[in-house]
Amino acid sequence: MQNRATQKVSMAVIRRLPKYHRYLEGLLHREIFRISSKELSRIMGLTASQIRQDLNCFGGFGQQGYGYNVEELYNEIGKILGLTRTYKSVIVGAGNLGQALANYSDFQRKGFKLVGMFDINPKLIGLKIRDVEIYDVDKLVDFVRENEVEVGIMSVPLEKAQETADKLVEGGVRGIWNFAPFDVKVPDHIVIENVHLSESLYTLAYLLNEENIETNC
Ligand code: NAI
Repeated sequence: MQNRATQKVSMAVIRRLPKYHRYLEGLLHREIFRISSKELSRIMGLTASQIRQDLNCFGGFGQQGYGYNVEELYNEIGKILGLTRTYKSVIVGAGNLGQALANYSDFQRKGFKLVGMFDINPKLIGLKIRDVEIYDVDKLVDFVRENEVEVGIMSVPLEKAQETADKLVEGGVRGIWNFAPFDVKVPDHIVIENVHLSESLYTLAYLLNEENIETNC
């Protein structure tokens, strides 16, 4: 296997990597260890050349006449995605969504180790979700700093999103996973991923009604 390329990979390719990872994981669960590029492209709904181009960004993995070794490709994509190490994480906003995220164990299995939760509501402070304590948000900055937390997960109301992001940055996180429907501003060295479930739901609504909509496109 060749070395990883050093140039910057386009965001479009990066966005497809988790999809490759998911499909390959599915194949491994079904004990499929080898797959042709044609079959992989069929199940993923991508062209074989698109897959080749994407994987070539990282040195290319398939072999002519053999296809892909599923386990090897899965492991390599996991490495490229950075899923082979642990990220200390905190959740800020331990309400409905925060607790649901804390209860979802797959993120922890993939390396996002939840070390603390934070909330402003005194009724929640001191409770534990799957052994992870909910602390007073006043302790957030110090906790993040002292525990070298890398990832902040934000599930606070939208009007608290910016101040929460500021605290996470002050504490020293490197990345923020933001569920609040508000585009927070962060310094350039912080990476941020916004997850706006409602945008996805409204897209579904559009598609459900598409045939009744007149467009000029
Ligand atoms: P929730 O009201 O159940 O939970 C919010 C929690 O944040 C509460 O426990 C509250 O005490 C706490 N909180 C308020 N101010 C805080 C502060 N300054 N610091 C720390 N904690 C604070 O609300 P829910 O349903 O869990 O939603 C949370 C956020 O996630 C909202 O912004 C909501 O719009 C968003 N959301 C986003 C979705 C998405 O598509 N990304 C889907 C569902 C919710």
